[in-house]
Amino acid sequence: MKKVLVMHGPNLNLLGEREPGIYGTDTFESVNEEIKAAAKQLGFECEVFQSNSEGALIDKLHESRLDCAGVVLNAGAYTHYSYAIRDAIAAIKIPVVEVHISNVHSRDEFRSKSVISPVCAGVIAGFGKNSYILGLRALKDITEAQG
Ligand code: DQA
Repeated sequence: MKKVLVMHGPNLNLLGEREPGIYGTDTFESVNEEIKAAAKQLGFECEVFQSNSEGALIDKLHESRLDCAGVVLNAGAYTHYSYAIRDAIAAIKIPVVEVHISNVHSRDEFRSKSVISPVCAGVIAGFGKNSYILGLRALKDITEAQG
């Protein structure tokens, strides 16, 4: 069974209580349960990882290249300025799907710029917690096409 990694960046551990009008009222734990169930249905073994620290996210991306077929990544605010995370994605050969819960293009101007998009397989934004599930579906198609 192929393994995938779903990674959450900073502040996403506060899902459910953090700006619920934007990020929803589902808790971080319940969103992760839905992610794991969807991954299972797609035939993936799934690891979920969250960190508020840029270095820990980079270390995990490096690690994922050894045993994962792909990554679904919500890099949170690092999306908009972390060249280090961008370089980590570029360094690994497995596909990384960038996801966002909110529609980053309809919010503050700084959120419409992603420094990681150019090195990701694609971007999904604005579908609430379903963005993660859509990201998993995209990974399924990508990894199947790779054989
Ligand atoms: C986010 C959007 C980012 O701009 C923000 O900093 C986040 C969450 C989203 O999922 O919509 O932390 O990535």
